[in-house]
Amino acid sequence: MYFPAYRPRRLRKNERLRDMIAETSISAGGLIYPMFVTPGKGQKEEVSSMPGIYKQSADNIVKEAVEAGKLGINSILLFGIPEKKDETGSEGYDPNGVIQKAVRELKKKAKGLVVITDVCMCEYTSHGHCGIIKQGVVDNDETIEYLAKMALSHAEAGADMVAPSDMMDGRVGVIRDALDDNGFESLPIMAYSAKYASSFYGPFREAAESPPQFGDRKGYQMDHRNVREAMREIALDIEEGADIVMIKPALSYLDVIRAAREEFDHPIAAYNVSGEYSMVKAAGRMGWIDEAEVMMEILTSIKRAGADLIITYHAMEAARLLNRSRK
Ligand code: PBG
Repeated sequence: MYFPAYRPRRLRKNERLRDMIAETSISAGGLIYPMFVTPGKGQKEEVSSMPGIYKQSADNIVKEAVEAGKLGINSILLFGIPEKKDETGSEGYDPNGVIQKAVRELKKKAKGLVVITDVCMCEYTSHGHCGIIKQGVVDNDETIEYLAKMALSHAEAGADMVAPSDMMDGRVGVIRDALDDNGFESLPIMAYSAKYASSFYGPFREAAESPPQFGDRKGYQMDHRNVREAMREIALDIEEGADIVMIKPALSYLDVIRAAREEFDHPIAAYNVSGEYSMVKAAGRMGWIDEAEVMMEILTSIKRAGADLIITYHAMEAARLLNRSRK
């Protein structure tokens, strides 16, 4: 049927009609809010390249997490910034490390919230790489043992889910075994399955104080020219026991999300990363875009591409807007 019999504009006439036929919707419940935990008490410092995002001590994390829960957000993703960094990232698996303490606080005071922890060495190592260095490179097989130890310590502290973001081979399987052997067989793993070596992580590295001190992460994170390789990575993680698979970053990788959606039935998360957030904030501040509208358009596009869950620094403001428009 063609014009003039068929006129697509008929169903675009007003907001109610447009709402009725909308194919995609986002909800606060599908957003995961990433947060940066620092040691101590009463600490709260804004990340300069990420307006509205703070590095804060556990007491302040609890306050914001409780607020997130009230806004309908189901889950937060925690990154730790340790007191001290060393060669083997030992604060990462210390039962009294910055993350482990924060998780314990959250489980007491932000009841019901799903607390996910990032499992990676780069925030904890003095060299800033995501693993143990041997002869100048990150040693895969030694690193995954450390990652398993770290994941287990998060589980013991009370984490509801662990999220390995290191991109070592075989790490999901080793983490799954460590959890299962210690009574955590029902703790899910959200694997950063297709994580690209991306320059969009710049602001995060400022926040987490984790830029690599030599070289880059291209020896373990994926090459942005590849999509079929992402399917292989995801298949491997599912094989090893991943419960949720992730694609990261999101915005320049919508085709990867779509391809994964078509190939796999597992829940898919997409990480709307720091650089994507900062660009929106910067352009908004310059008055070049309508920040709130652009934010919603971006989040909706990630959902439309096929993501079930979106990890985003916009979570709080998006949830506020979504709650308001529902009334
Ligand atoms: C740690 C990690 C990074 C991000 C999440 N986990 C940084 C990196 O790999 O360099 C980036 C998140 C973001 O940019 O928002 N491995």
